Amino acid sequence: MTSGGDGPGLNAVIRGAVRHGIRTHGVEFAGIRDGWRGLLEDDITPLTTFDVRGLSGRGGTILGTSRTHPYSDGGPDRMREVITTRGLDAVIAVGGEGTLAGAARLADDEGLPVVGVPKTIDNDLDGTDYTFGFDTAAAIATESIDRLRTTAESHHRCMVIEVMGRHVGWIALHAGMAAGAHAVLIPEFPVSYEQLFTWVRSARDRGRAPIVVVAEGFVPTDRDEAVSAKGEARDGRPRLGGIADELAPLIEEATGIETRSTVLGHLQRGGSPTAYDRVLSTRLGMAAADLAVRGAWGRMASLDGTDIVDVRMADAVVGLKRVPLDRWQEMQVLLG
Ligand code: F6P
Repeated sequence: MTSGGDGPGLNAVIRGAVRHGIRTHGVEFAGIRDGWRGLLEDDITPLTTFDVRGLSGRGGTILGTSRTHPYSDGGPDRMREVITTRGLDAVIAVGGEGTLAGAARLADDEGLPVVGVPKTIDNDLDGTDYTFGFDTAAAIATESIDRLRTTAESHHRCMVIEVMGRHVGWIALHAGMAAGAHAVLIPEFPVSYEQLFTWVRSARDRGRAPIVVVAEGFVPTDRDEAVSAKGEARDGRPRLGGIADELAPLIEEATGIETRSTVLGHLQRGGSPTAYDRVLSTRLGMAAADLAVRGAWGRMASLDGTDIVDVRMADAVVGLKRVPLDRWQEMQVLLG
């Protein structure tokens, strides 16, 4: 089952789990459609090695996904009924913090046979060094910044590029460092407008076209919360986005440099995963099959250095993995 926002590598997880499970353990698989919705509504389909052919490089998820809450529409009791009538021995839940928090509760409190695989392009999940999808998102953002830089240089403009990152600035930090941004703004560390304008002026004064990378969840010092210009999503969460459009005219007014903004949005989640993400996803999928066969309910596959290990899901969802101070400080010398 894949649940929550999608991310490049979900299909590689499915392929890794199915191939390893069938070939090594001789077990059978079924695909639950659209996250918890499929388990609550008994929308389940057989999944064979034939179904996962050629999947490691394909973006999205062949199973579909949703943000359906596991405790809605009958919740754990309904899931138990479906699991029993379908004869399922284990559920592999692939998802982000919300999905894994639900999966941990279902395993630990309700006694359901659930194991997990961590996924998020935001890379904000604790209990694993990296999540798959992040490397791809950072690579797409980096390439986009490289492209925007050439047009910015032609016109002697400043470019503000907004990347995803609801609560954390990992994509902004990595893409900003990789593409040589002059200003990086992330949710974890406040930056004043004056500091931002100083970075922009300093780049311009050296003859550069200033590049500003901002995470969607960055909160300017004169606001209480992140910019959400698009209302709420179906699950009630604010749809973040719009900070780049807010910053661009402020930069132009304060520095006199003509400024444009670009919001990368879901481009960062779509398309083919990088080789790194394909390998990580495949290994995590295979490890999840092992966890299911072991009956390690409440645990998830995770990355520790270069090793695939497993950890308690409940421990991984206590807090978010934010950009630490030393990574932020290390970036400072590259700005401006
Ligand atoms: O959590 C991943 C993420 O891509 C966030 O960075 C972003 O705020 C959110 O999902 C967008 O969600 P949706 O696809 O529902 O608009």
